[in-house]
Amino acid sequence: MITIERLKKSFDDTPVLKSIDLQVNKGEVVCLVGASGSGKTTLLRCLNLLETPDEGRIKIGDKEVSFGEKPISKKDIKDIRKYSGMVFQGFHLFPHMTLLENITQAPLTAKQQEKDVIMKEAEVLLEKVGLSEHQDKYPDALSGGQQQRAAIARALMMHPEVMLFDEPTSALDPQLVREVLKVIESLAKDGQTMVIVTHEMHFARRIADKAFFMDDGYIVEEGPADQVLANPKEDRTREFLALLEDE
Ligand SMILES: Nc1ncnc2c1ncn2[C@@H]1O[C@H](COP(=O)(O)OP(=O)(O)OP(=O)(O)O)[C@@H](O)[C@H]1O
Ligand SMILES: [Mg+2]
Repeated sequence: MITIERLKKSFDDTPVLKSIDLQVNKGEVVCLVGASGSGKTTLLRCLNLLETPDEGRIKIGDKEVSFGEKPISKKDIKDIRKYSGMVFQGFHLFPHMTLLENITQAPLTAKQQEKDVIMKEAEVLLEKVGLSEHQDKYPDALSGGQQQRAAIARALMMHPEVMLFDEPTSALDPQLVREVLKVIESLAKDGQTMVIVTHEMHFARRIADKAFFMDDGYIVEEGPADQVLANPKEDRTREFLALLEDE
């Protein structure tokens, strides 16, 4: 589903992704862990071209783009973005739209389906994330956990082949974390391919097939999630996990 090869990205001459190789198969749940500043968000943003990599190659679905040889086109960006839906730490709902409007805005604009099909699907998804009774409220009137579940529903409305989550629960109070993790876990059960940046290690071990540990712009360890997150081979991974346990 996703193949990344020798991906590099610098900001102002400071290399952030130094040479990333990574593969995600269809239906896999992959988690990405690593210290603050190691490049996790940058990697996710490169995956849907919110950042343009300097070098390397990304293949996602049937679309393949190489970087560094010639500038990427608007069509490349559009084609790549079609495959993924992103959920951010800070929800990013539109404040002036109700939940229902938030989640139907993109599909209604894209006009890929009839309006009544889109509205029906919105109803089903809001039910799935437990927000049916809140569909006419504005984001301001909802808890962080509810807003994040709405953000997940909004991304799902576009039928992405891959869902990308960047620390989806780190802005939430502890009692709200579980309801969001439950929704993500149900997507995993449905076979949704996902890449999740998270510090929720118990959750990651339970739902992820594979884990990648990033350090200083490289992936320094990868393997089955329960091995990488419970019995890592690399010292750097071990040190990072020990720090998390101390928190
Ligand atoms: N737009 C940008 N301009 C300049 N530097 C940036 C930009 N985005 C990220 N960086 C730098 O790149 C490095 C990696 O940032 P990134 O956000 O990818 O790390 P992260 O692993 O997601 O960290 P965290 O766990 O804190 O979210 C950091 O040093 C950051 O300051
Ligand atoms: Mg980040």
